[in-house]
Amino acid sequence: MQIERSVFGRLRELVYHHSGLSFDEKKMYYFDRRVETRIEAVGATSVTDYVQLLRRGDGADELQALCESLTTNETYFFREYAQLKAFAEGVLPMLLNARRAAGTRRLRIWSAGCSTGEEPYTLAIILREMIEDFEQWDVSILGTDISREVLRRARQAIYGTRALKDVPTIYRQRYFRTEADGERVATLISRMVTFRQANLKLARPPRDLTDLDAIFCRNVLIYFGDHSRRQAVEMFHDALTPGGAIFLGSSESVGRITSAFHPVQLGRMLTYIK
Ligand SMILES: C[S@@+](CC[C@H](N)C(=O)[O-])C[C@H]1O[C@@H](n2cnc3c(N)ncnc32)[C@H](O)[C@@H]1O
Repeated sequence: MQIERSVFGRLRELVYHHSGLSFDEKKMYYFDRRVETRIEAVGATSVTDYVQLLRRGDGADELQALCESLTTNETYFFREYAQLKAFAEGVLPMLLNARRAAGTRRLRIWSAGCSTGEEPYTLAIILREMIEDFEQWDVSILGTDISREVLRRARQAIYGTRALKDVPTIYRQRYFRTEADGERVATLISRMVTFRQANLKLARPPRDLTDLDAIFCRNVLIYFGDHSRRQAVEMFHDALTPGGAIFLGSSESVGRITSAFHPVQLGRMLTYIK
């Protein structure tokens, strides 16, 4: 099946409006294949029929399903190690001091676009390792994603060896247990993380996500269009506490998207603070 350009344009707009995901003509083949699969899944008779379904009041679930099917979910533990090191050694001590000075020992982190969970579990390992008086702290990490399927896998907390390729051996021994179907994240790590579905195409942060210490949204906004990318980063700004930090992927620059954050050089890494 090949979708006509005009229909591709209409579908692309619906997807962008719902999720922020942007597809140019170079990605048309990828887009076509996903649409084809969804057309088969719902039993639509033609692409036009399918577009009509998406536009109907009861088409919201199908639009969500189409957007989920268009996501790229590649991830692994300790991805972009240098950035995590800058977080652990530079930013985290600052965040802990700020919380202590405010008279609290509560730390809240959001992994936005967490895919199958490797990123939030990595953050949990880092926090457990780096906070000396960890037992005195109330630490929580929230992982969110638009895709229900990746969240289901994240909650299982079982991974193949490929996902663990960059995990330092000592952490692998400490925080993973080999089971019949893969490597299971230890409960003392998995219980620090909760998951829920959330679409990042939001003008304002969800009401319970304010006063956060750090937000990781790595390798997510590269798939967004300019407008939704800026809207998401500004929404993150609202969700952070003053002094809180935002981390995008290494190929994405906060400074190029908005001037709302202060750039702080930590070693070779530029970090953005509210
Ligand atoms: C490539 S993965 C990145 C995973 C992890 N952050 C990392 O860096 O390894 C991108 C994730 O963003 C999610 N995503 C894409 N659009 C989204 C949206 N509008 N709202 C929430 N999550 C979204 C996808 O479902 C996917 O799991």
